[in-house]
This record gives sequence, C-alpha cells and structure tokens, in this order.
Amino acid sequence: MTSLAATLTGIVSSAFAEAGLPPEFGTVTVSNRPDLGQFQCNGALGAAKSARANPRELGERVAALLRSNPIFADVSLAGPGFLNLTVTDTWLAERTQQLADDPRLGVPVKADPATVILDFGGPNIAKPMHVGHLRASIIGDSLQRLFRFVGDRTISDVHMGDWGLPMGMLISEIALRRPDLPYFAPDATGPFPEESPVSMEDLEDLYPAAAAACKADPARLEAARRATAELQAGRPGYRALWQHFIDVSVAGMRRDFGDLGIHFDLWKGEADVHDLIGPMIDDLREKALAEESEGALVVRVARPDDKVEVPPLILLKSDGAVMYGTTDLATIVDRVREYDPDLMLYVVDQRQHLHFEQVFRAAALAGLDGKAKSEHIGFGTMNGPDGKPFKTRAGGVMKLQDLLAMATEQALSRLNEEGLAADYPEEERQAIARMVGIGAVKFADLSNHRLSNYVFDLERFTRFEGRTGPYLQYAAVRIKSLLRKAAEQGAEAGAILPPTEIERDLMLNLGQLPDAISAAYQKRTPNDLCEFAFWLSQTFSRFYGACHILSEPDLALRGSRLALAAATLAQLELVLSLLGIEVPDRM
Ligand code: ARG
Repeated sequence: MTSLAATLTGIVSSAFAEAGLPPEFGTVTVSNRPDLGQFQCNGALGAAKSARANPRELGERVAALLRSNPIFADVSLAGPGFLNLTVTDTWLAERTQQLADDPRLGVPVKADPATVILDFGGPNIAKPMHVGHLRASIIGDSLQRLFRFVGDRTISDVHMGDWGLPMGMLISEIALRRPDLPYFAPDATGPFPEESPVSMEDLEDLYPAAAAACKADPARLEAARRATAELQAGRPGYRALWQHFIDVSVAGMRRDFGDLGIHFDLWKGEADVHDLIGPMIDDLREKALAEESEGALVVRVARPDDKVEVPPLILLKSDGAVMYGTTDLATIVDRVREYDPDLMLYVVDQRQHLHFEQVFRAAALAGLDGKAKSEHIGFGTMNGPDGKPFKTRAGGVMKLQDLLAMATEQALSRLNEEGLAADYPEEERQAIARMVGIGAVKFADLSNHRLSNYVFDLERFTRFEGRTGPYLQYAAVRIKSLLRKAAEQGAEAGAILPPTEIERDLMLNLGQLPDAISAAYQKRTPNDLCEFAFWLSQTFSRFYGACHILSEPDLALRGSRLALAAATLAQLELVLSLLGIEVPDRM
C-alpha cells in the first residue's frame, strides 16, 4: 500500500503513457488549491515543453482518459494545463478501509533493506552531557526509529568521546591530588583495586578544575599531554584508572539515555579503535596518502573545485598524539569490517561539518569505507533567550537530569492549570508529567528543521495549544478516551462508509501518512513527521467538533466514525513513537 497521491500517480502516469507521453510527468500531489480539486498534476506543462506541444491540448488528452476511470468524481483542467483531480467518496472510503485494516497503516516495508549505522549522542567521558548532545540524541533516536520502521537494519552507536586530552587532564589532576593511589606507582602492573577511586560527581568537579589548570599553566598542560600519550601507549595504571572513568560515566549515561527512552545497540567509544590506528596509518602511508607536514602526519583531502578551503586531515600531531579525525577514520574501518554498512549517518552539530567532510574524503580516498555512503546529519544549536547556545543561569552547562526535571515540573504546573489528571494517584500524575515534559522537549526540538537554531522556551514548549508535544499527546489521549467510552457502551468500530463533508478531509489526511514518512526518511527530517502529526490532529479535531459519535443514532455511521477515530489514533501513536514521544493512557 502507498499514499493516495502515490496511488493516483500510478494511474495518471499510465494515462500519460497511453496518451503517448512520458509517464514520469504523471506525478500527483495533494492540491494546494483544494477549491479546484483534492489532488493536482502539473505534468502536462513539462511534457508539452519537452514535446514542443500545446500544454492545454496534452492536458485535455490525459484528462479525457482519466475521466473514463470510475475512481474520479471530477477531472478538470485549469490555466495553461494544470490537472485537478477529485476522487469519488466510494473510492476514498475503500482506500481508507484498506489503510485501517493494514497493520502497517499503509506504509510499505522497504523492498531492499539497507544496513545503516547511526552515530549519535556522542557524550564525552567525565563531562556532563550538554544541550548539543541532547539534540544529537533526540534527532538520532528519531532517525533510528524511522529507519527501522521503514525496514532498514539499523545499528546505533553512542560513540563516546573517551580517548583524547581530557583523559590525560583527569589522570594528571588526580595524580596531583592523590599521588599515593596505586595507579601512579611508576612500574605498577596491577592488579588494581576494583572499586573506583572517583565517582561521577567527583569527575564532574575534577574535569573543570583540570581544564582550568591546564589553560593557566603550560607545565600542567604538558603533564596532561604526557599522561594522554602514556594512557594511549598502554601504561597499566593509567588504563586501569581510565577504565574506572568509563565505568562510572557510562553508568550515568545509561541512566540519562534510559530516562529519555533512547536505546543504543553499541556502547563504543573512540578508544575502542585504538588498535586499528597503527595498521590504518601504515596502510595510508603505503598508499602514499599519508604525508609529513610540519612534523605532523596528514592526509590531503582538498579538491581543485572546492569553494572553501578544506584543510588536510591530521592523523598524528608532531608529538605523535592521535586526533579526533584519526579515531573517526579508524571507526570507519571498524564499522566496515564488522557490519559492511550501506550507509553511515553521523548526527552531530553542524559546526563539525568540515571535520566530517575531511574524514569522509580521507576514507573514500583510501577506500576504507567499503560500499558505504557517509552523511553528516548536521543540526543547529539550541539557544537561550540571549540567542547564544543554551546555558544555565549560572552560565554553566545544563545537566540533562536538571533539564528534564525542569521540564517535568513545568509540565506538572501546566496539567494543574488545565485541570488535567487532577484526581489521579500521585504516582500516575508524576509519570504523566514526565511523559509530557520529555515529550514537550523532544517535540520542540524535532519540529524545527534540524539545521535551524531555536530558542529554549519551556513555557511555550509545554503549552497544550499550538504546535507542541503536549497538544499532540492530548489529542491522542482524547481519542483513547473516546474509544474507551465506546467500548464501555458496547459501541464498536464498523465498516468505513463513504464520507460526507464531515469525514472527507480526515480521510484525505489519513491517506497521506506514507508520504510524510517517506519525506522524513529521504531527507532525514523528523520535522516532516511533526508537521503531519500536527496537521492530522487538527483535522481530527475539526471532524470531532463537527459530529456526534457516541450519541449518533445511525449505528453504521457511528461504527464508521469510530473506525476513523481508531485509524487516526493508530497513525498519531505511530508518528509520535517515531519521534520517541510516549502517549499516556489518560490525562
Ligand atoms: N564527542 C563528540 C562531541 O562531543 C561528538 C561525537 C560525534 N561522533 C563522531 N563520530 N565524531 O563533540
């Protein structure tokens, strides 16, 4: 099954072919002039151009063929050759019935599934996740859900930042504060204590202190560099201490991602590919792609037709340290070896675009990327009211836990304002507030095109009116409650009847889900899903306001409307689930 417009495209394309015209001009879209027809096809103009013919005359030929097809109630020609199409109510009802009966709600499963790696989240060890990581996580998770639903085999990787200078900074900071720890004894080979000498909270204090010290004092920076090099070279005490950093940080990350309902298949990090780097560099040297430049080892990736300068990718600095690009390149080697993917998506801040351009080019030059296509799925920043990347009032990074607590609190006061969930048990109220708060944050993020920046405004995000998560959650909850009441009264959904004015728009809207999903999938734009969900909810709300359902005396009509309500709920729940947004049972 496909969308209504796609089905009509098939029919109109055949008519073009029958009229002796190229079928690819038969593309049908939902009309932007509903007063003239439900659907439109502008292909006669293009066909006329390539055939040097009169567009109106070609349009007339196609229209005449379409008029003999009983699914159309009206086929007309406007202006220089625009085809306007309106389908019969009988056909519309039949199609809506098929859609309602389809467990996939009319969305086909991809015929040729691809293996897709999604790299998102990207939190850094010992540093709290900031709003950039939040965006990466929310967008990446939505894409993971979407790709999986469409039928691809998805593998998500959190790709932690765990191997750079910050690790050496932490080690040398702890060495100063607690030189007696066994990790620092010069020739210690272990075994080392199983208990971590630091907690997540300790790390969150230690890291900013270490970073500040390194900034102020070149000797401290030098010590941190040395510690990083020794860690990477495998000094046992440092590795053991570092492993504790990873373990305590990952425990916190798992809790954070769990709270957000975000799952990763792989919990790998930059360090996991350390052993692949040496052989990879040998290979790049052999292929004459790696060359010395000012003491560093680089891969030149510029192309003659570049409009902006693309600097070489640095593999090794003059002190031999590996770089962010080096681990990313080796990660490609690892992923190609393990999964042989068709596609690799990197959901990372748009400000890293050049970095990914360099990495992808280097991988392609060296043939490290197998058959995979790589894409940087960039996104803009979430800003504070001052238009700068969002910070806490104290100017620090907002911790995810704090942000979600704030959102939940705001959602709770909204529920109180609206008199929702008022007499529910406290535990349920809290759970609803959490779903609404997190739903509000996710929807606010996903409803903007990912590349645009937006302002963090919890007050607006949590409103129950307008383009918000809570509005959609409430719309779904209202339908759930309608269906529950119906069931209590023994009213059942029945066959979908040909629409009147009241049901027609809703049916037309339901028939577009596959297009919304395919647009979001093709362009990697969850905002297309948000747009669809919002629009469907509004159409449903007009339908619901215009008719009686439970009190409808005509039982066949009541059954048909209940079936439409159930189909709407199914679509809303599907789309919200693809956005990673949960719907409470009641509110
Ligand atoms: N850890 C990085 C950061 O905080 C993001 C990692 C993104 N993924 C990647 N393969 N480079 O900026």
